[in-house]
This record gives sequence, structure tokens and C-alpha cells, in this order.
Amino acid sequence: MVKIAPSLLAADFLRLEKEIRLIEKSGSEILHLDVMDGHFVPNLTFGFPIIKQIREFTNLKIDVHLMVTNPEIYIDNLSKIGVDYISIHQETVFHLHRLISKIKENNCKAGVALNPATPVETIFPIINDLDFVLLMSVNPGFGGQTFLSLVYEKIRILKLKRKELCIEIDGGVTDLNAKKLIAAGAEILVSGSYIFSGNDYSAKVGSLR
Ligand code: DX5
Ligand code: ZN
Repeated sequence: MVKIAPSLLAADFLRLEKEIRLIEKSGSEILHLDVMDGHFVPNLTFGFPIIKQIREFTNLKIDVHLMVTNPEIYIDNLSKIGVDYISIHQETVFHLHRLISKIKENNCKAGVALNPATPVETIFPIINDLDFVLLMSVNPGFGGQTFLSLVYEKIRILKLKRKELCIEIDGGVTDLNAKKLIAAGAEILVSGSYIFSGNDYSAKVGSLR
């Protein structure tokens, strides 16, 4: 069963409370939070205080996508806040296995995020240690970009290697590609601008399923 994870980046930040309640009502399972540091990606978003307030406000699963150059300094605080999923970018870490172990020791689901240009084979040695893999279907940093269909082949290769691996797709996900992504084996679909661009979030979420 696919899980839908609206990306808060595309929400109206002046009415965040209302936006999150609408996401809860839309039938989504997960709230995707993009943490950007202005170094790994050329953009800034939000940090601990806002994530903590969101955690206290909603029962949705919280999925933190760390687009930062030093993910290791965020793990303890995020687990204290009580987020559910944490993904770190393979491109930012020297000791990926160590950090994945640390996330799991902190009782969060641990994932590796891969940029479009990063081959999936780079995570093969630790594939059995991962709770999920986040495949970027746009270059990280911004919402509203065009979906890159190179992810289909990446899903295929990952599924051949480990059939039960949970795969999350992030970037440019809409009703035009969701069906094919699910058929290919994607289990979590992140979607920002597509969901938040209308008034009826439930209808958008339904169309992705
Ligand atoms: C991009 C972020 C995505 C983004 C998705 O760097 O990781 O989560 O918010 O937004 P859309 O669905 O608009 O591409
Ligand atoms: Zn993301």
C-alpha cells in the first residue's frame, strides 16, 4: 500500500496550522519536512523549533529529509523531538554506515537519499541496513521542478537487489507519474507543489493513490 507524503515546503507558511490540519484530513500518512542549510543546496528552510512545534501539533508520521552538509549534528535533536523517518544524503557523508546505525539506535527509520546523478549501486554494500531509500526525481533544493524519469531505472535496479526495500520518491510527483511509480515499486510518494496548488488536498492525494 503506497503512502503519500505531502512536502510542507509548498504549503502556505502564514497558515501552517490550517495547512497541516488539511493534510491530516486528506488521508496522507506522512508529513515530509525538507531541511536545507544553504550549503548542500542553494536554499534555506526551517530547523528544530519549527519541527518541534509541528511534532507537538500532529500525529502524522514525520519524515525529515536532511539536505545539509553535516547531517550527523542533527540526528540527536531530531530523535529527541520524536520524528519518525530521517534521510541523509549519500553525497554529504564519509561514514554512511555509521550514521545510518546512529539513526536506528535513536529509534528512527533510517534512509539514504540519492541525487539524480548518484548511482544506486553506491549503497549496495549497506542495502540490508537501510529502512528506506529516498530517490530524488529532481535536483534537491527547490519545489516545483520537472520530474526526471531516470528514477524508474533506479527503482528497478534497487528492487532486483532487495525486493522488500522501501523506496520513497521525491520531486515532481504528480498524477501523471504516480501510477507508474507505484507499479515500479515505490512505496512512499512525496509531493509538494502538486498537492498544495489546489484547494482540494484530499482529491489530489486520492489521485496520487
Ligand atoms: C526538493 C525537496 C522536495 C520538494 C518536492 O529538494 O526535497 O521534497 O519539496 O516538491 P515538488 O513535489 O513540488 O517537486
Ligand atoms: Zn524532500
